[in-house]
Amino acid sequence: MTILITGGAGFIGANFVLDWLAQSSEAVINLDKLTYAGNLETLASLQGDARHIFVQGDIGDSALVDGLLARHRPRAVLNFAAESHVDRSIHSPEDFIQTNIVGTFRLLEAVRAYWNELEGEAKAAFRFLHVSTDEVYGSLGAADPAFTEDHRYEPNSPYSASKAASDHLVRAYHHTYGLPVLTTNCSNNYGPCHFPEKLIPLMIVNALASKALPVYGDGMQVRDWLYVKDHCSAIRRVLEAGRLGEVYNVGGWNEKPNIEIVNTVCALLDELRPKVDARSYSTQISYVKDRPGHDRRYAIDAGKIERELAWRPAETFESGIRKTVQWYLANPEWVAHVQSGAYRDWVQTQYASV
Ligand code: NAD
Ligand code: TYD
Repeated sequence: MTILITGGAGFIGANFVLDWLAQSSEAVINLDKLTYAGNLETLASLQGDARHIFVQGDIGDSALVDGLLARHRPRAVLNFAAESHVDRSIHSPEDFIQTNIVGTFRLLEAVRAYWNELEGEAKAAFRFLHVSTDEVYGSLGAADPAFTEDHRYEPNSPYSASKAASDHLVRAYHHTYGLPVLTTNCSNNYGPCHFPEKLIPLMIVNALASKALPVYGDGMQVRDWLYVKDHCSAIRRVLEAGRLGEVYNVGGWNEKPNIEIVNTVCALLDELRPKVDARSYSTQISYVKDRPGHDRRYAIDAGKIERELAWRPAETFESGIRKTVQWYLANPEWVAHVQSGAYRDWVQTQYASV
């Protein structure tokens, strides 16, 4: 048995591949374009492991995807591939439209053709799982209830709008063609191997480099944080037992304002890697101009996945953020290669045959 995952060299996809292969003998075909966000160094421990087949390519390349499906006959396709950074989507939305919308559409078409040809048990068991975000629901007021799966779609950034469009396509392929789809909408993830353009890894990396810690606006925007391994376990659970055509919100009931996150990171660094002058890393905090259209609050009601699939996160925010800071402290090479751009040479130096 085999699964095909897309975007498996990115933050969540790579964590998913590592967790999957730590728990299962089932092979993974990993299709990733290796944009700036794709980092095969994260998967270095899988070198020589025949269960991990990496293919560099675009989910929008129909011929490539058709060929992979025909050759490897996966029992499931999990779509992690996306352009994922809100700030980049504000500066240059085009890639977000291409990958998140057109790419997902082409992937769905390829998967539909493949699934149509399956028969019997293989057809009944096949799944297409689409990994999405809580950002499609828009922004909450301070007193609003958390997002349920029935919340209106009100995306506010080019990123969230493109993810919303992809969610709608996935839904339509189930409704119209009967494609056996599952969708997860997860809150903000954090954890090991997170590209340091997102809040938590950026703060850790900048703090250690004695750089400013840029907090947008008043720092009181609220995000709901989930440790990445808990997101991975939720995806495995939805794949295993999710009801066809259903959407599952995934979150850790962990709402926190950004400034609290930054102060927590600083306090952990003060404890684990005190500065030579004994001052707190929080002295590096710098309030900067706000992000245009900045969503004020996200919060996930994870009641459905808890009730129906008995999924629960294993980490509290306190345990997860400590593990995360410890991981960055223990992996300065990974960080240095990301910062220097050397991680992009990894394919040539380590995967010459792919
Ligand atoms: P990421 O940016 O770290 O990784 C994305 C990966 O997709 C990269 O390896 C990149 O090379 C690859 N990719 C991009 N375009 C591609 C294309 N056209 N074809 C093939 N591969 C391509 O993103 P992430 O944080 O790991 O997010 C993964 C998924 O989870 C995304 O769909 C994102 O919307 C969703 N999500 C992320 C979060 C979060 O907090 N990071 C939360 C909820 C949902
Ligand atoms: P980010 O990690 O980019 O995730 P998202 O925008 O998808 O939620 O940002 C998380 C929050 O942190 C968001 O409210 C924007 C804020 N932020 C900062 O204040 N400073 C920063 O340098 C970054 C990257 C984000």
